[in-house]
Amino acid sequence: MVENVAAWIDAPYADLQVRRAPMPVAGPGQLLVRVRAVAVNPLDAVIQSNGTLMYGWLRYPVVLGEDVAGEVVAIGADVRSFAVGDRVIAYAMGLEKGRDARGGAGFQTFVAVEAAMAAPIPAEVPYERAVVLPLAVSTAAAGLFEAKQLGLDSSSLGRSPARDETVVIWGGATSVGGNAIQLARAAGYQVITTASPRNHARMHELGARAAFDYRSPDVVERVAAAASGTTVVGVLAIATGSAAPSIAIARATQARRVAMASPPVSFYDQPRRPGVSAARIRLIARLASRSAALQLRSRAGGVRASYVWGSAIADSEVGVAVWERHLPAAIASGMHVLYPEARVVGSGLSEVQGAIDAVRAGVSAQKLVVRLDERTTADDMGTVREAPPAP
Ligand SMILES: NC(=O)c1ccc[n+]([C@@H]2O[C@H](COP(=O)([O-])OP(=O)(O)OC[C@H]3O[C@@H](n4cnc5c(N)ncnc54)[C@H](OP(=O)(O)O)[C@@H]3O)[C@@H](O)[C@H]2O)c1
Repeated sequence: MVENVAAWIDAPYADLQVRRAPMPVAGPGQLLVRVRAVAVNPLDAVIQSNGTLMYGWLRYPVVLGEDVAGEVVAIGADVRSFAVGDRVIAYAMGLEKGRDARGGAGFQTFVAVEAAMAAPIPAEVPYERAVVLPLAVSTAAAGLFEAKQLGLDSSSLGRSPARDETVVIWGGATSVGGNAIQLARAAGYQVITTASPRNHARMHELGARAAFDYRSPDVVERVAAAASGTTVVGVLAIATGSAAPSIAIARATQARRVAMASPPVSFYDQPRRPGVSAARIRLIARLASRSAALQLRSRAGGVRASYVWGSAIADSEVGVAVWERHLPAAIASGMHVLYPEARVVGSGLSEVQGAIDAVRAGVSAQKLVVRLDERTTADDMGTVREAPPAP
């Protein structure tokens, strides 16, 4: 009998434990995917570092993970665009509010995903290459196109109409940023970005017209100068600390909107254990004071600054425009590049905790990926100790 295995997080702050899991069922509009590769996101590290400060709705034990690639083994009612056997990537949304954080999260051998947040991948594209996209491309799309964010026009995606309008993407080398550059270009916008100099050539390859070092003391002025002569339709702020300079750029270029993908503090700056500590109190105080300062600075400059939530596109026309109408053809033709580079760090769910720790330490223009092949299942089953407690 085929059994499911997951990397469980049993309590806030705990390390992942690999053991048996219930077999998820594909509900209406869903696919059941046999996972062949997962990627690790900062979100996984942040949830594990933060206890219940974020994602307070989670009832432990749960499964982390958003990015999966594998083959479809069953389809739910009302699914017409996929068939059993299809090779897909998908944004596993189980951790989002109101969803199933056991059957619907990514770090397991079988997962139930929304068909609307999945895309087929060509036979020649390895799972571990394509798995870098789902959360990053969804967050990029939410920041650029959602009406509450920059509100750019997603209807022209893939037709690349020439527009004399510019988007500034702070943090172009992040996974979210590299996908945002490509989506913005595919919708016809010019892009100015920031990244470390070693990544500037890559930023140009992805479609950025100009790239500047975010560590330069005069980076705000340089970005504003590069944008002069065009209308700046908004700034997408990605990476911790990106919001303040992004608001400054918006004010200098008369852009009216900033979409912020990251908090103003690093949630890793606290001990990964329960309880009160001086570091945790300082972190929460910094978070409150910086958030308030950002809102004051943006309002004083006539700029609307809002936080991006990648899963927002699941319930909007943007999700359809990106996941259904744009990505399948754009991935197959190579128009949408699989960014960032996948660094495969191991095979088997027991490797995921190490990958999360490595994400906490920092990566550059890479996504850490773990393969789940046939052998993986057998290996992981060997470590099974008990079934998860009943909900
Ligand atoms: N709100 C949401 O729904 C959502 C969803 C996904 C991610 N996020 C957030 O978005 C951010 C990026 O996530 P990711 O997965 O794309 O990250 P990632 O790929 O792990 O980001 C790594 C990159 O961050 C860049 N970076 C670090 N500090 C920077 C700074 N001060 N300015 C500009 N770039 C900087 C580095 O660029 P260089 O190598 O060029 O130095 C590095 O390549 C994280 O804060 C994450 O928590 C939010």
